[in-house]
Amino acid sequence: MKVTVVGAGAVGASCAEYIAIKNFASEVVLLDIKEGYAEGKAMDLMQCASLNGFDTKITGVTNDYSKTANSDICVITSGIPRKPGMTREELIGINAGIVKSVSTSLLEHSPNMILIVVSNPMDTMTYLAHKSLDMPKNRIIGMGGALDSARFKYRLAEAMEAPISDIDGMVIGGHSDKGMVPLTSHATRNSIRVSEFLSEERLEQVAADTKVGGATLTGLLGTSAWYAPGAAVSGLVQAIACDQKKMFPCSTFLEGEYGLNDICIGVPVILGRNGIERIVDVPLSDAEKAHMKESAEGVKKTNGLLDV
Ligand code: 2OP
Repeated sequence: MKVTVVGAGAVGASCAEYIAIKNFASEVVLLDIKEGYAEGKAMDLMQCASLNGFDTKITGVTNDYSKTANSDICVITSGIPRKPGMTREELIGINAGIVKSVSTSLLEHSPNMILIVVSNPMDTMTYLAHKSLDMPKNRIIGMGGALDSARFKYRLAEAMEAPISDIDGMVIGGHSDKGMVPLTSHATRNSIRVSEFLSEERLEQVAADTKVGGATLTGLLGTSAWYAPGAAVSGLVQAIACDQKKMFPCSTFLEGEYGLNDICIGVPVILGRNGIERIVDVPLSDAEKAHMKESAEGVKKTNGLLDV
């Protein structure tokens, strides 16, 4: 199993690290445009191998796509990250050009790849990949919902003073502060609805904190987060590589599902060796349906800024 991660910045390197630590891939290629940077990150990570007990071979390359040839899974993390006060949508101008050229180069060398898009604004970048590459829709996946759901579970556990392993919950919709739709009515603690433990007011606060999860970290760190984004990507990569058939909310091209068309947005999907193997239709409450519709309008507005 060969995995390429483009962008050796914090998110890309953390993603390579988590993939290696889970020890399911034979090879990870880390590619960056900055001379020597990916090589340095790869060497540092490889020096963790004996300490952390993994056999995955991590190689760093400067902009040489021939080294990514025949990758099974490719991840794009490249582009500029958010600075405090910026929305993900503000990154579109620079990141659209980067995502288009990176994804085209990847496909040239790995015609059978499954592509995971992480660059922001993620749903629009996933849509751009879908429109500009000649690839089946099940092989293009946007990573946002897995991360937002992890942040949702963190906030629920915090509010209930419960261990996170007790909590289950999902966030669908657009990967943006306004667009996320935390499915509070479906969230549980050991199969009991969270509304049995928390007041409506507290649950609204949990949802609000979840939606600004990325912005909160950007404010604290001065740039966007990397540990949880890297861990979330590695979860998707592992589900595909190991044909786990796990369910995650991912951004995927919709053709009528959830009443939406011609858009990539987060919905629950089953991930296996063929990428997105199924889109799962979850019954939504009227409020969640309205929120999802509003979220899709926001994503479409950002898509409208693309030249596709
Ligand atoms: C985040 O939410 C990087 O979009 C990513 O942290």
